[in-house]
Amino acid sequence: MKLWTGRFKKELDPRTNDFNRSLPFDSRMYRQDIMGSIAHAEMLGECEIITKEDSLKIVEGLKGILADIESGKLQFDDVSEDIHTFTEGELTKRIGDAGKRLHTARSRNDQVALDIRLYLRDECDTLVEMLKELVGVIAEKAEQYSETVMPGYTHLQRAQPIVFGHQLLAYAEMAMRDIDRIGDCKKRMNVSPLGSCALAGTTYPLNRQSVAEKLNMLGVTRNSLDGVSDRDFVLELASALSIVMVHLSRFAEEVILWCSGEFKFIELDDAFSTGSSIMPQKKNPDIAELVRGKSGRVFGDNMALLTAMKGIPLAYNKDMQEDKEAIFDAVDTVEKCLSAFTPMLDTMRVNAANMRKAASFGFINATDCADWLVGEGLPFRDAYKATGELVARCIELNTSLEDLPLDEYKKVCERFNDGVYIAIDLEKCVRDRTVYGGPAPSEVKRQAAELKLRLAEI
Ligand code: ARG
Repeated sequence: MKLWTGRFKKELDPRTNDFNRSLPFDSRMYRQDIMGSIAHAEMLGECEIITKEDSLKIVEGLKGILADIESGKLQFDDVSEDIHTFTEGELTKRIGDAGKRLHTARSRNDQVALDIRLYLRDECDTLVEMLKELVGVIAEKAEQYSETVMPGYTHLQRAQPIVFGHQLLAYAEMAMRDIDRIGDCKKRMNVSPLGSCALAGTTYPLNRQSVAEKLNMLGVTRNSLDGVSDRDFVLELASALSIVMVHLSRFAEEVILWCSGEFKFIELDDAFSTGSSIMPQKKNPDIAELVRGKSGRVFGDNMALLTAMKGIPLAYNKDMQEDKEAIFDAVDTVEKCLSAFTPMLDTMRVNAANMRKAASFGFINATDCADWLVGEGLPFRDAYKATGELVARCIELNTSLEDLPLDEYKKVCERFNDGVYIAIDLEKCVRDRTVYGGPAPSEVKRQAAELKLRLAEI
C-alpha cells in the first residue's frame, strides 16, 4: 500500500523504494505497532471520533493480523514501505473502509516514536533479566571462591593479595550499575508520544492518557514537537549498552588471560571453547574474544546514533529511520554476548593451586611488611624504603619475603623480629583486610550474600 496517493502522478522508482523502505528491519516491531494501533483505535471509539462499531472492527482486524503474523500465515512483503504501512494496508484489505479510519488523528511520526519506545521498553526487561543472571552466577562463584587466594594486579603486575571471589564481585558491581542504568533509561522512554501526530498535535478531542494507560506506559510526552523528534531514549540505551560492553569486554580480557598457559588460573569447559583446524593441542577462548571484539560494534552503533541525530532540525526527518538498525544491533549484540558469556563463566573450572602459587611470587605482601614496620613505630615512608631494600635483596638471592632469613631483615632495619613472618603470611594478609568492600574471605562472603538479597529486590 502506498500512503501518499492523491498528490503524486508517478509510482515510486523501484530503486528509490528499496532505498527508502524500512520494513526489512522494522517488521520486528509488528507486535508493538499492532498493540499501539489497538490502543489508539479503542480510544478513538471511546472519544467518539470514530464509531464504536468501526473501532471494534479495527481492533478485531488487528488481532487477526497479529495472530496470522505469529503463526506464519501472514508474511511481510517486498514492497511495503514500513511496518505501519504494511499493517494498515493489510487491515484495510481485511475490513474495508473501517481500516482507513485507523489513522485518524495519528501520523507515522508519532506511531514510530511509540513503537520503538514499546519495543525497547520490553528489551530493557530482557537485558535486565540477562544481567541479573550474570550477577547470580557471580554471586555463587564469589561464595565458592571466597577463600581462594590470588594476586590482585595493577599495571598487570602482581600487587596485593586478594581472593578470587573478590575479583569476581567487582564485575558484579559493574553489572548491578548496568541494571540500574537500563532501568532508569526505561523509565524515561516509557511514555506515549501518540497525539503528537505529525508534529503539531491535532484538533480531534483525543484522550492521550488513556492510550498510555492501555499500553502500560507511565504517562505521555509533554510537547508534540519533542514527542516525535526525541530519540534521546535510544541514545541513552545505546550509551548504557556501550558501558555494558566495556564491562563485559574487560571481563572477557581477564578470562582470556586467566586461561592462557602463562596464568593457568582457570580452564573453560569444552562446551564453551573451540579448537584449531591445524594445531591439535589448541583450546581457544573464542567466546571471550568475540565478546571483547563485539564491544566495537556496540560503540559503533552508539556513535552512528549520535551522529545521525546531531544536526537534524525539529521535528521528524527521515534521518531518524536510521535509529532502528543501530539500536537493534546494539541490543541484539549485548543479548547474544550475555547468552554465551554467562554459562561460559558458570562452567569454568578454577585452578586454586595456580592462583595461590602466583600469589607466592611477586612480593604481594610487601605492603603488609611495611605496615608491620609502621606498627613497630617507623614512619610509613621509612618502612616503605626498608621494605623496598628487602625486596631488592630477595631478588638478588632469588627468594621470597617469607623465606628471607631474619638476619637479612635485620641488616636492613634493626626493628625486625620474628613477628614479621606472621604479618606477611599471605592468608593472614587477606584475612585481615576486613575493611568494608575489602577482600577478606569473611567480607567477600558477606558481600556475596548481600548481593543475592539485592538481586532479589530488583
Ligand atoms: N519508517 C519511518 C521511520 O522509521 C516511519 C516514519 C515515517 N514518517 C515519515 N514522515 N516519512 O522513521
